[in-house]
Amino acid sequence: MELPFAESYKIKMVEPIRKSTRAAREEWIKEAHYNLFNLKSDAVYIDLLTDSGTGAMSDRQWAAMMEGDESYAGARSFYKLQDAIQTITGFSHFLPTHQGRAAENVLFSAIVKPDDVLPGNAHFDTTKGHIEFRKALPIDCPVEEAADTSVDHPFKGNMDLHKLETILRRYPQKRIPCVVITITNNSAGGQPVSMENIKGVAALAKKYGVKVLFDSARFAENAYFIKTREPGYAKKSIREIVSEIFSYGDFMTMSAKKDAIVNMGGFVAFRHEEDWKKCQMFNIMYEGYLTYGGMSGRDMSALAVGLEEGTDYDYLDGRIHQVAYLGQKLDEYGVPYQRPAGGHAIFVDAKKFLPRVPKEEFIAQTLGVELYKEAGIRGVEIGALLADRDPKTRLNRYPTLELLRLAIPRRVYTHSHIDYIAAALKNVHDRSKTITRGYEITKEMAIMRHFTVQLIPAR
Ligand code: F0G
Repeated sequence: MELPFAESYKIKMVEPIRKSTRAAREEWIKEAHYNLFNLKSDAVYIDLLTDSGTGAMSDRQWAAMMEGDESYAGARSFYKLQDAIQTITGFSHFLPTHQGRAAENVLFSAIVKPDDVLPGNAHFDTTKGHIEFRKALPIDCPVEEAADTSVDHPFKGNMDLHKLETILRRYPQKRIPCVVITITNNSAGGQPVSMENIKGVAALAKKYGVKVLFDSARFAENAYFIKTREPGYAKKSIREIVSEIFSYGDFMTMSAKKDAIVNMGGFVAFRHEEDWKKCQMFNIMYEGYLTYGGMSGRDMSALAVGLEEGTDYDYLDGRIHQVAYLGQKLDEYGVPYQRPAGGHAIFVDAKKFLPRVPKEEFIAQTLGVELYKEAGIRGVEIGALLADRDPKTRLNRYPTLELLRLAIPRRVYTHSHIDYIAAALKNVHDRSKTITRGYEITKEMAIMRHFTVQLIPAR
């Protein structure tokens, strides 16, 4: 008999989580104004809000924390992190920041000005926010397959090279500070970008004299997909693939809370010394001194180890298998989701799941609230709430896809939790025809409204 798949770690410490009654959850979600971000974590049984900063650190990472050097300048922990970044990414310079959006803030403060244009495969919301905040224009150029959740394409995160070239041709080079490749493509469903596509983007960028930025939060998961799906890469190690990916970039921003498996941390890394120097002032102003940025010494030490563990094949194999297993269960139950299963999450297709809820009533949010009420599971809406309003017209933007993201924290939940999640979704799916109304907004912020928006059931 072929041995089944099993994880490459065992559990040394546990954290109790509690189930609750449906009646209690109905009360809690009402008090939370039907915004899942407003729930207390104690009101949640399985938390799939995000895979960011929610991973379980290893014994080696905790040991590294004890050895953190808290010196203000020139800490040992900084040099450990520098070594890990240089070895794994090949970038020669870096600035530590407290998380990914801080890395974006530091880099974009130096390179983005009003009326600039930043094309990408699909900017993450904080990236988009930082670009729009500077009165510049983020343009998404996803491949068409990304908009059809039923199409099985190995690299749905790819950039449409044709669209990209149209933009590079339309705008003068001085208005395009960089092209952004987000790996994996979070907004499209945690879908990977192929090496071929990365090469294609880099070649176009070179042709038009534009730099390439990797938004690298899930770069190791992306490398795993290249190894397992792209011809010519099966025999290469994850580290070899990672170093090839970054060889096509001029800089990277990193939210280390994802693939580097730490609870907090990030950095910007650079190929060119002059870019690094341009950003130094902003790092000192917004984050902290050059050798700690937004992190304590122990955080940098744990991050250095996390970069190593996060690029280990066996770890990644287990990680991706777990997400794929949830996908298989949903296939069994006929629950529609962005196919194939992504690296860090399953993105349930809420439009197909709840065909009777009008788009003006926030379909994916409605599904998120239903799943919470059903089983105490918290996902996150990737739909019209997140898409926000058009900055000029202030009208709601309705994206093609309404998705409920179920992000799986790293090394945290077991297969039985996954079975529970799948069963809960099946139960909601079985009664989906009876769900016909969604929610309306009572309060919202001017930018990134989804975090704090308040809702009431639509009347
Ligand atoms: N880029 C991508 C692709 C991301 O997914 C995130 C965060 C960031 C940048 C910003 O990093 O949170 O450390 O400031 N994504 C989280 C998520 C929040 O839930 O997907 P951050």
